[in-house]
Amino acid sequence: MSLLTVYADDANVELARYSEEPAIAKALEDIGVRFERWQAAVPLQPDATQQDILAAYAPQIAALSSEGGYTTADVVRLKADHPERAAMRQKFIEEHTHAEDEVRFFVEGSGAFYLHGQGQVYRLVCERNDLIRVPAQTPHWFDMGPTPHFTAIRLFTDPAGWVGHFTGSTISHAFPLYER
Ligand SMILES: [Fe+2]
Repeated sequence: MSLLTVYADDANVELARYSEEPAIAKALEDIGVRFERWQAAVPLQPDATQQDILAAYAPQIAALSSEGGYTTADVVRLKADHPERAAMRQKFIEEHTHAEDEVRFFVEGSGAFYLHGQGQVYRLVCERNDLIRVPAQTPHWFDMGPTPHFTAIRLFTDPAGWVGHFTGSTISHAFPLYER
């Protein structure tokens, strides 16, 4: 179940918790983050390829791309037995920003985004059917957990330019990890 927990950013004190789509979306609007739940037009098969997945969500991808100016879409898939999972988990677990939006749609599995703004940390556990758009320059981090399992569609303005700029803050260490 998708779950948003809001904390004070200086004290790790829980301020609010939301599990319904409208309430999650409304709370995240305060920091400019977009949250939606999408439904695929056709059921996705277990052996679906990247092309199958992009085709299943083509109308939604097209609408969001024209609205946000995204030029490319791809699919990232991570399994719990990935040999590089520990290193991959560490890659984006420290607070960072990007020069462009971070757009993710969870086709399956889950992961936790932590958005930092307005003196608060918004911890959003995303699951299947969840779309999140983090605006460019928003401080955030992501925890896929020790046994990562997710398939996500990513949209980019310029995939070559999508790199993390780390803030140097250790704030992420003060908040609950994602232990799927
Ligand atoms: Fe990021």
